[in-house]
Amino acid sequence: MRIALFGPPGAGKGTQAALLVSRYALAHISTGNIIRAAIKEKTDVGVEALEYVSEGRLVPGVLVRKMAEDAIAAQNFADFVLDGYPRTLEQAAWLDEYLDGNDAPLEYVVSLHVPDSTIIERLSRRRVHRETGESYHLDYNPPPPGVPDHLILHRSDDKPEAIQKRLVVYREKTLPLEEYFRAQEKLVEVDAVGSVEEVHQRVRSIIERREVDDRA
Ligand code: AP5
Repeated sequence: MRIALFGPPGAGKGTQAALLVSRYALAHISTGNIIRAAIKEKTDVGVEALEYVSEGRLVPGVLVRKMAEDAIAAQNFADFVLDGYPRTLEQAAWLDEYLDGNDAPLEYVVSLHVPDSTIIERLSRRRVHRETGESYHLDYNPPPPGVPDHLILHRSDDKPEAIQKRLVVYREKTLPLEEYFRAQEKLVEVDAVGSVEEVHQRVRSIIERREVDDRA
């Protein structure tokens, strides 16, 4: 199964991707995680990306494209969920060209819908484990007792100004992907307000219904 997942910052892409990974045995390809790893390792791309990510802007597409394509190729063009790629119409066209050229088009593109007020509440209370990358929410899913404070990170782009910037960028650059993938009849729109499990069930029920319809 080849799925792409997009939605505003804090919509729950990473959270839902992890559940899809375990349900359908997929690889999780997150450009956000790949970029953060490059920043941590201070690679050339990471050094260049740092300023963009901290300010809530998109990293230049040419840098992201190669990382995403390498990760997809490493997965033999099958069984993956792309989290956060594509994020612009230009990236969507690159991705289509790349996957079509390898006879492996996307099957489902899931758009998670969440109002701004929920996003701000989720992101301002999110914390991330510095070493494992595991994501927590201080109220709904707090870090387990015993994890030392210095390992609990408040992401620099989860500060109020960066969240606002990311929301603006999302509306300008990423939201037009809905129309793009709707025209390809791949768009799956999901109300992502509700518990993590409820949202997961909504995603699964639409995908599984479509799988049945496609086989009929
Ligand atoms: P990225 O890491 O992809 O950030 P994002 O899109 O802003 O998304 P987030 O990781 O903030 O949130 P999420 O939707 O994964 O939500 P999560 O599951 O964590 O990208 C970071 C940056 O990298 C970008 O700003 C950009 O600079 C760069 N970048 C990445 N890809 C790029 C690309 N293709 N092109 C250019 N630049 C790129 O959930 C959020 C919180 O809510 C968590 O605390 C979670 O526990 C909680 N939560 C989740 N679901 C629920 C629920 N149902 N109920 C209650 N709480 C919930």
